[in-house]
Amino acid sequence: MTEKQTWSQRFESALHPAIARFNASISFDIKLIEYDITASQAHAQMLAHTGIISPEEGKQLVTGLDQIRQEYRQGKFQPGIDAEDVHFAVEKRLTEIVGNVGKKLHTARSRNDQVGTDTRLYLRDQIQQIRQHLRELQAVLLDIAETNIETLIPGYTHLQRAQPVSLAHHLLAYFHMAQRDLERLGDVYQRVNISPLGCGALAGTTFPIDRHYTAKLLHFDQIYANSLDGVSDRDFAIEFLCAASIIMVHLSRLSEEVILWSSEEFRFVTLKDSCATGSSIMPQKKNPDVPELVRGKTGRVFGHLQAMLVIMKGLPLAYNKDLQEDKEGIFDSVNTIKACLEAMTLLLREGLEFCPQRLAQAVTEDFSNATDVADYLAARGVPFREAYNLVGKVVKTSIAAGKLLKDLTLEEWQQIHPAFAADIYEAISPYQIVAARKSYGGTGFAQVRQALLAARTQISAE
Ligand code: ARG
Repeated sequence: MTEKQTWSQRFESALHPAIARFNASISFDIKLIEYDITASQAHAQMLAHTGIISPEEGKQLVTGLDQIRQEYRQGKFQPGIDAEDVHFAVEKRLTEIVGNVGKKLHTARSRNDQVGTDTRLYLRDQIQQIRQHLRELQAVLLDIAETNIETLIPGYTHLQRAQPVSLAHHLLAYFHMAQRDLERLGDVYQRVNISPLGCGALAGTTFPIDRHYTAKLLHFDQIYANSLDGVSDRDFAIEFLCAASIIMVHLSRLSEEVILWSSEEFRFVTLKDSCATGSSIMPQKKNPDVPELVRGKTGRVFGHLQAMLVIMKGLPLAYNKDLQEDKEGIFDSVNTIKACLEAMTLLLREGLEFCPQRLAQAVTEDFSNATDVADYLAARGVPFREAYNLVGKVVKTSIAAGKLLKDLTLEEWQQIHPAFAADIYEAISPYQIVAARKSYGGTGFAQVRQALLAARTQISAE
């Protein structure tokens, strides 16, 4: 049996060691220690400010907490399992340092509002860090896009060659996904940045606390209006995990493309040695481990979102110990997202090279100019559906003859329809196909240049 725990004299005997281990969260919530200290300092200042404790006592608590922070940073404070959780660990150490006044820290507070406060402070910092990583990913996407406005790449639907596009346009699609991710995280931040401190265990407190005072010290925008809600709300965590999952969806899609592009079948990119690995048995292999890992790690973030939703769904108000289960999923998602964003950014910046010759060849060797033949006729008065059917037949006969559309002679074109003239060849060249898509948001070079400019402005305005 372990020695008696921190809680009340109500207990006759100590917790069974196995249960103590099962109950404890210190092994993972130690991550929150600095936030716990910061929040406790704000609480202590508030207690002094409102006269609940004396100014001198307030100072002692704040100074003692500073010392714990130093001890922790220097590796001198490493609480073990008997501390149960980070909140008890800090309080216990504080009392060792400052003596009996340390026991006043928990006046008008509960671990329930405390853990909610710490988690929000942690997430607030992490959200800003993830946003910074997203900006770096955006920057590298823009850099590659800027040098590849006129590099063409087959565009696909159903993973079948559809119409060629500018490589810059393709990469900008990911820039915009990242932009929404940034904005989404900005929205989540607003819901994270609400203070539950002072909600007490569930019902508020009998002491004349000032919740606005602690909120201000901790730079929270608002405070929870309802104490039951404040201590038991984890919407903010669900929302964060949702935004995190969407980021992973985007990274995973990009990963999948890089994996395809680096395959022998596509050969659109080559992976540099610094970001690829070999096989232990097949000497010829160079594997796209980075994007594969990013794609694979997506699963765990989705899992954490699912877990959080399930943790919450049956919980009666207010705090329930189930909520202790929120932390590991949040921590792991944060670590995963940061690692994936970093790896992906590095891969794009220095681990991957597009193969211009292969890309140029890829956009000329197929029928992805068929729509443009139909558009050519439609622009010359043939109803589009009629033109479409006509070109469908041409594609069929060309495939049978082992030809591409560019191989047809002018006579052949004119037999198909008299509206065809010598400019058909220009109209169906890959460059022209891309250039002609001038509609807003399309792949036309002028559009892409505009889009790049707008993206640069967006990034620098952030
Ligand atoms: N370690 C706990 C958690 O993470 C702290 C709150 C404990 N509250 C309680 N009433 N037992 O949720």
